[in-house]
Amino acid sequence: MICARAIVALGLGGIMQTAAAQDLSWSEIERGRYLAIASNCVSCHTDLDHDGTPWAGGREMETPFGVIVTPNITSDDATGIGRWTRDDFWRALHEGRRRDGSYMYPAFPYTHFTRMPRQDVDAIYEYLRTIPPVEAHHVPEEELLLPLRERTTISA
Ligand code: HEC
Repeated sequence: MICARAIVALGLGGIMQTAAAQDLSWSEIERGRYLAIASNCVSCHTDLDHDGTPWAGGREMETPFGVIVTPNITSDDATGIGRWTRDDFWRALHEGRRRDGSYMYPAFPYTHFTRMPRQDVDAIYEYLRTIPPVEAHHVPEEELLLPLRERTTISA
């Protein structure tokens, strides 16, 4: 019944287009899931030592500059990347920049991702948006990595 009404409302062409658009975004999300798994994003962005929620970050990574806690990349607005646009996300993976434009620490291996084409990065972004948002705030890395910041300031 709903179908018949829809056919009347949209015409067959409209229906076909809608179906095609849904297929496209579904396959984009599937592709994003595949790429995210292949790139091993989740292993860093999960607090594996404490049974953390996947994608909610919190894993501590030792670096020569101190400990970095991986950020939450679920779509939570306050503590995750819920407010990030596709462009923000692209810039993070392509240029290694945070949303505010500052550069991330090399513990985030973005240089591995810079050759990833835009459509792949967009697909990962779309996939991440299908994951339920998790509120998880982690220690700001500023407190942990003061020495590096000081050095950057000195050299600047
Ligand atoms: C080797 C561990 C590692 C892997 C693998 C990794 N990340 Fe990260 N990621 C990090 C760390 C550490 C940071 C924080 C860097 C900083 O703030 O200086 C980060 C930051 C980010 C940020 C910025 C978040 C924010 O709030 O600023 C995004 C987005 C992100 N990663 C997405 C991804 C995606 C997508 C993948 C897979 C394609 C991925 N990461 C793979 C460790 C990793």
